[in-house]
Amino acid sequence: MKISRRSLLLGGAAVGVVSFVPSAIGQVPAAFDTLPASAPTRNLTLTAREIDARLLGADGPLTRRVCAYDGELFKMFRFQRGTRLVVDFENALPDPTTVHWHGIRLPYLSDGVPPLTQDVVEPGGHFRYNVPLPDAGFYFIHPHCDETGQVGRGLAALLVVDDPAEAKAGYDAECFVVVKDWRLAPDGKWLDMTTDDGAANAGTFGTIRATNGKTTPPRVEAPAFGDVRVRALVADATRVIDLGCDSDDAFLIAVDGQALPPVSLNALPNGVWRMGSAMRADVQIRMPAPGEEVKIYDYRSDEPYLLTTLVAVDKGKRKTPVKPRPLPAPQVPLPDLKKAQKLEFLLQVSAGPTAVSPPLPADDPLSKALANSLCVGSTTHWAISRDSWSTREDLRLPPPLARMDHGASYIVSMTNVTKHVHPMHLHGHIFRVLSHSKKPKMPQYLADTVIVEPNETVEIAFKAVSGNWVFHCHILEHMDTGLMGWFKVA
Ligand code: C2O
Ligand code: CU
Repeated sequence: MKISRRSLLLGGAAVGVVSFVPSAIGQVPAAFDTLPASAPTRNLTLTAREIDARLLGADGPLTRRVCAYDGELFKMFRFQRGTRLVVDFENALPDPTTVHWHGIRLPYLSDGVPPLTQDVVEPGGHFRYNVPLPDAGFYFIHPHCDETGQVGRGLAALLVVDDPAEAKAGYDAECFVVVKDWRLAPDGKWLDMTTDDGAANAGTFGTIRATNGKTTPPRVEAPAFGDVRVRALVADATRVIDLGCDSDDAFLIAVDGQALPPVSLNALPNGVWRMGSAMRADVQIRMPAPGEEVKIYDYRSDEPYLLTTLVAVDKGKRKTPVKPRPLPAPQVPLPDLKKAQKLEFLLQVSAGPTAVSPPLPADDPLSKALANSLCVGSTTHWAISRDSWSTREDLRLPPPLARMDHGASYIVSMTNVTKHVHPMHLHGHIFRVLSHSKKPKMPQYLADTVIVEPNETVEIAFKAVSGNWVFHCHILEHMDTGLMGWFKVA
């Protein structure tokens, strides 16, 4: 559990980090900005802190040490596309943290990944993030240090980027569905967020399911015969869901915030959209007659799990034929597939010590400082093409998985040779998903996180942007136990 880990780490002297990092990273890539300097700026303060909350219901026990941005669970930030956020972040947690802007194409020095892009923000410390918002969509923010522990206790906020052009799609209502379980004992106390068995398998699941932080599925009113834009996010560290609903009048309209030509949910494999940790999906749902309901489920559970009920209320709308309502096309730079260089990686179980450089002894002050700076997990279970991210068992920054050229196109093929699903996330890019070897009927779409099933090969393609970018499984315990690497683009 993180508390014991922290007490171990705090014993280390804060020396040596700076001298280590340049030798491992080498030349520093230029930070590429995705908006012009003239973009309108919004100044924002953001604080991470602990709060007390009744996560098991209003009549339930109080849970202490819930983590939240600005003291509000799953706070929503909403801005217009084309805005630049200048964020003064304060760490009011008792532990180090950073802020990662998941899915946002931003200069890598604001990407929030210690030690590749910044040092951790110590308790009481501040960091200024430069966050351009070049793309409309549904994003979220979370820490990138002890993610399993801090996200496990709630540290995540929603970031919605609006484009006025979306109004033309003509949605009548909007509904947010945030899937995140809680790992709590019946008395409201936190359970350990990670277990060795979970980390080595599908992850350590919560004990209580919740939508939008609440253990009772929300009921949301929407205009009868209207079209609702449901925006779902899996903020859980572990859970993979099959998003669907009990209506045939439903279309997938965006993945990870990026619009695609609407696809009927019934045309997707099993009539659902599979989503792992960090993945988002926008779904258009037609409301029935007044008083009737549409139920949104996770069909991957043994019993379909009710996420949210949409309740149709009479708002004077008449019944019209159902038609898809496409969102404006994304404007992200697309790869040139003809010129793309292909790279192949295996997602695998760690085969034991595969370090290119021998680990430092654990009692070395540099090891301890390094451990602190890397926010590392305890053991190594996983690897990408035989290389694992640093853990306490093997403290070192692995060399980049690949060196890429800014502006060049790459096809990255990932083959999962493990028994578990891995939702793979690449920082700083929105990629095209070219193929899923086990799901030939998938639509063409853009994403920042993609599920790779056991024995499956998934191909993604993107135009590389200058920076040090991590590439990792978003099942946070997998990431913490080795399933992370990085690309160096210069
Ligand atoms: Cu949600 Cu490293 O990312
Ligand atoms: Cu994984």
